[in-house]
Amino acid sequence: MFARALANEFARDVRTGLTRAGQKTLSCRYLYDDIGSALFDAITYLPEYGLTRADARIIQAHACELVASLPANVIVAELGSGTGSKTRPILEHLRTRQVVAYYPIDVSRAALQRCARELDSFGMVAPIESSYLEGIRQVAERRDAGQTLLVLFLGSTIGNFEPEAAIDFLLALRLCLAPGDVLLLGTDLVKPIEQMTLAYDDPTGVTAAFNLNLLGRINRELDADFDLRQFEHVVRYTEEAQRIEMHLRSRMYQIVSIRRADLIVDFVPNETICTEASHKFRPEQIARLARTAGFRLQEQWMDTQWAFAENVLIAE
Ligand code: AVJ
Repeated sequence: MFARALANEFARDVRTGLTRAGQKTLSCRYLYDDIGSALFDAITYLPEYGLTRADARIIQAHACELVASLPANVIVAELGSGTGSKTRPILEHLRTRQVVAYYPIDVSRAALQRCARELDSFGMVAPIESSYLEGIRQVAERRDAGQTLLVLFLGSTIGNFEPEAAIDFLLALRLCLAPGDVLLLGTDLVKPIEQMTLAYDDPTGVTAAFNLNLLGRINRELDADFDLRQFEHVVRYTEEAQRIEMHLRSRMYQIVSIRRADLIVDFVPNETICTEASHKFRPEQIARLARTAGFRLQEQWMDTQWAFAENVLIAE
């Protein structure tokens, strides 16, 4: 008896995540449909969520120095570019010395279109709609001899990987690069627990809406009947794992049907679905991570208002 082939990857992943023994999970990459992306954008304006502004401030402050440290002929690729707004200062400095080629890589076509529209004046913007590694492979294929590839991986998205998966990802990325290529890696740092918790559980409720929208998306795309009001957004920080987790907690016993995932699933009171883990780093851990993955940490810039580090890694 085989399970009926499911319509798409989303359906398969939802089914897998909600039927596994122990903690139910949903992958955080599904948080970003059109509504989720708009809500995440709103999160970046919240006073409690300083991450994105810190990232942008550090780049703004050090773009000139970064560009000055690069060899002559640079092409730029960005993983999960979103609208590319943080990238602007880097492209601006590059433009003063060369023709700029910029490859934003994202799975969201809407984000890529916005990115291309906003950064089009910088010369060649060539959006690549694909996963990170597949996108980087395409860029690496197109590069000319003598060009240095600058890869941007900002916003601490690396924190969404489990530690071993982060190493595997950076190793795989390193294999697409040549020695001397540069990775600019944004990493959110460990800070006081109350501050981290508030950043993911803001009193306005935007992050709660962002989290709950995942169930809304399942309702819309997979013909499910989640009652969003019967789930509560909860956030936990785990000291040992150095990570913030977002969960959706069932307020009562309930049964949910997810037709396009061929699934009926029940929740006991207080049972949770883990929807995101966001790992935080200590500055010295990043040098170790870099070395393990075949890079050397050349530079580490930090923000004074929000514990965040921008790391310049050189492929060895
Ligand atoms: C986009 C993954 C960096 O983990 O801080 C924000 C996503 N989740 N609020 C993060 C997020 C809840 C964000 N990243």
